[in-house]
This record gives sequence, structure tokens and C-alpha cells, in this order.
Amino acid sequence: MKIDLAFTPHELEKKELAGKSVVVIDALRATTTMTIALENGAQAFIPVGTVEEARKLVAQNPDYLLAGERKAMPLEGFHLGNSPRDYRPDKIMGKTIVMTTTNGTRALVCARGGAEVFIGSFLNLGALCERLIEAGRDVLIACSGEKDLFCLEDTVCGGALVERLEKTGPSIIKTDAAHAARILYEHCERDVHAMLCSCEWGVYLEGLGLGKDVRICAQVDSSRIVPVYREGEIFLDR
Ligand code: MLT
Repeated sequence: MKIDLAFTPHELEKKELAGKSVVVIDALRATTTMTIALENGAQAFIPVGTVEEARKLVAQNPDYLLAGERKAMPLEGFHLGNSPRDYRPDKIMGKTIVMTTTNGTRALVCARGGAEVFIGSFLNLGALCERLIEAGRDVLIACSGEKDLFCLEDTVCGGALVERLEKTGPSIIKTDAAHAARILYEHCERDVHAMLCSCEWGVYLEGLGLGKDVRICAQVDSSRIVPVYREGEIFLDR
């Protein structure tokens, strides 16, 4: 099994996706929030790139919820922001949620074309690793980054996945990008929360009073679910 990693969506666009298991990571906060929402009973997410697209889709489907952020803040007229704490069962049970975020949903849209696309975060590393080994395909880890630039938290989370796969999987060949991510992870593995608090976006979220979200995003292996992104929707297929 070969493992590769793209540090940004722009880099992902240059990669061959066909035949691979692609894992999209936006550790702070989109893929963490999606995982928690689906665990709390949401039916599905529809990720879209722009606020206009999201508004249009919900106008055409009034049962859908409108969700997302810009600069980490909820948008006017939206039902939900991007805080995992917003996604309580009483608000989202059985609902399809149209979501647009700055980086996470952009990476998801770029990841279409993989044989399967999975949603990854620190929360579901173990379950994800099992699912990838079971699938047996080459793996491409897609970091959402920050406005098409490198970000530490997604790379470290990707590196954690590389480490899990190397420890438990079949024989692994990794690219230099995957190797670098693993080295970075090994540097911070003893305290993932401290790494999330010290990276640029974590500092920004803390400054907005969203430190509780950062703590939730650091809950390694707290979830056993692996959301899939198929035919435009993110959902649980088992
Ligand atoms: C994103 O997609 O850029 C993030 O999830 C931003 C955030 O923390 O809301």
C-alpha cells in the first residue's frame, strides 16, 4: 500500500486520485464537526464551495439546514455555524445539512474523483485506519490547509494517520510528503491539544473564545465512525 499526502487543495488538484482512498482532513474544525454531527444523528452533509451556492441549494430544498463559517464566524441567516457544539441532536437529527467553510469544503470538492473519499480528524483515526486497511487501496491524505497554504494541524493529523497505517497495516511505501507529516506528528504526539492551541488557526480560535472547540478537536480516537463522501453527500454507509 502506498501513502501520499497533499498539504493543500491546490496540491491535491495536481494528484492522480483515481483508484485511491482519499482522506480529507480539516482538523480545526470542519471534518471534526461533520463527524460529531453525523454521530449525533444528522442524515448527511452536502459540502459546497461558496455561500451563494449554499443559499441557493437550501432555497430549493427548504427542509435542508444551512451551515458554515467565514473567518470562523457563523453567517447571517444560517441555521448553524462550524462549531461542533452547535450540532446537538435536537437541532440536527435526521437533517441534511448544506455546508460551506473556508477550507474544508473546498478540499472536499477537490477530492471528488477518488475511488472512495473519507472524512478524517483526530477523533476517528483508529476507525479510519481500519477502514483504509480493509479497502486495501493506495491512500491519499488531503489536508485542507489555510487558504491553499500549508497548515500545521491538518499535516500533523495526516501524519498521525500515516503512523497508524505503518504500525498496523500491510507493508507501506510512503512519499516524502507522508514521511514529513509523520515526523511532524511524532514531534507533537504526546500533546495533540497543545499543538492545536499553538498553531495559527488554534490561536485565532482561542482568541475568539472558541477554546472549547479546540479541545473537542483534540479528542483522539473518541469516535468509531468513518463518514464517506459519495455522489455529492457525506454520510455513514454502515
Ligand atoms: C475551514 O474549513 O476553514 C475551517 O473549518 C474553519 C473553522 O474553524 O471554522
